[in-house]
Amino acid sequence: VAAEKAGYDHFMLKEIYEQPRALRDTLISRLEDDKVVLNEVDLTAEQLRSFRKVFIVACGTAWHAGLVGKTLIERWVRLPVEVDIASEFRYRSPLVDEHTLVVVISQSGETADTLAALREAKRNGARIVAITNVVGSSVAREAHDVIYTWAGPEIAVASTKAYTTQLEGVVLLGLYLAQTRGTLATEKIRKIITALRRLPAQAQEILDESEHIKDLAQSFVEVEDAFFIGRGLDWNVAMEGALKLKEISYIHAEAYAAGELKHGTLALITDKTPVIALATQMDVYEKTLSNIIEVRARDARVIGITFKSNKDLDKSVDRVIYLPETIGELAPILTVIPMQLLAYYVSVARGCDVDKPRNLAKSVTVE
Ligand code: G6P
Repeated sequence: VAAEKAGYDHFMLKEIYEQPRALRDTLISRLEDDKVVLNEVDLTAEQLRSFRKVFIVACGTAWHAGLVGKTLIERWVRLPVEVDIASEFRYRSPLVDEHTLVVVISQSGETADTLAALREAKRNGARIVAITNVVGSSVAREAHDVIYTWAGPEIAVASTKAYTTQLEGVVLLGLYLAQTRGTLATEKIRKIITALRRLPAQAQEILDESEHIKDLAQSFVEVEDAFFIGRGLDWNVAMEGALKLKEISYIHAEAYAAGELKHGTLALITDKTPVIALATQMDVYEKTLSNIIEVRARDARVIGITFKSNKDLDKSVDRVIYLPETIGELAPILTVIPMQLLAYYVSVARGCDVDKPRNLAKSVTVE
């Protein structure tokens, strides 16, 4: 087993460090300068134009990738997208028909609820595109089309490289739909593709500069609650950050839309409560900043995450984690990495079983 960990103490850390490679492999042969190539999606332009609605269905971390997918597809393709937890979707008679595209996201391709949701959607005539990491898995076999993430085997229960490659999967699908339906200017597509190509090296840069996250983790050893806040895509990825922390360190962690704090959660912010504030969505930056100032006024300990070029956040938080520059739409792929590392080092510092957290399984094949 030690050999399989390739010198890392845990599978989770190994998998976090594999992300530059996984991100690169998932893009291989799928990008041209101003176009995405998805030969595995066997749909005619006419079929692609016939969709009136998109559902994204998944569980756990894959569902979090779906939330980002919703924002991107709605923004780029101008089609309404609903994101559903598979165990909800399958029991609520969702409005699915032959004009519906259902995107099923599953690392293992074997999650029972996700598979049942896929079958239910298929019965109702929907077209099913799967984003999965396991070739020949049940989800891969039963979907009409499959976009594989090339993360390689993921062993740790807490998902890391599967999530970041799933995000690439939804980006590729969103661009593909947009270029076919003509909803994005070529210049915009070109800009996104240029930014996509930089991601693997940027992920590596974050890993190379991550020593300070290990130090930061020490201050979480005695913590009981932590909050993750952000707006838009930052909020979506905050949910994944909170899930990482809670599942492997057993610290109660909650993600909140920053603007919604004042409707309840703010009551829980007291002296020294750690708040991880994501601020990469520059169109709502000032609004997020005002929420950061609100929690700081309640004496929270705020750790901000933003781009290196942002010299402003520093003044309003206790600590900043800086990210390499990318476009807002791709920021989640980088933002999550320091949060994965934080969860990892907190779990180690608290003496938890990082790779096998209590009560959880890698693949939930029972309902
Ligand atoms: C379990 C795993 C999670 C995963 C979820 C969905 O809960 O512990 O890491 O996100 O299942 O799994 P899937 O294989 O369908 O992505």
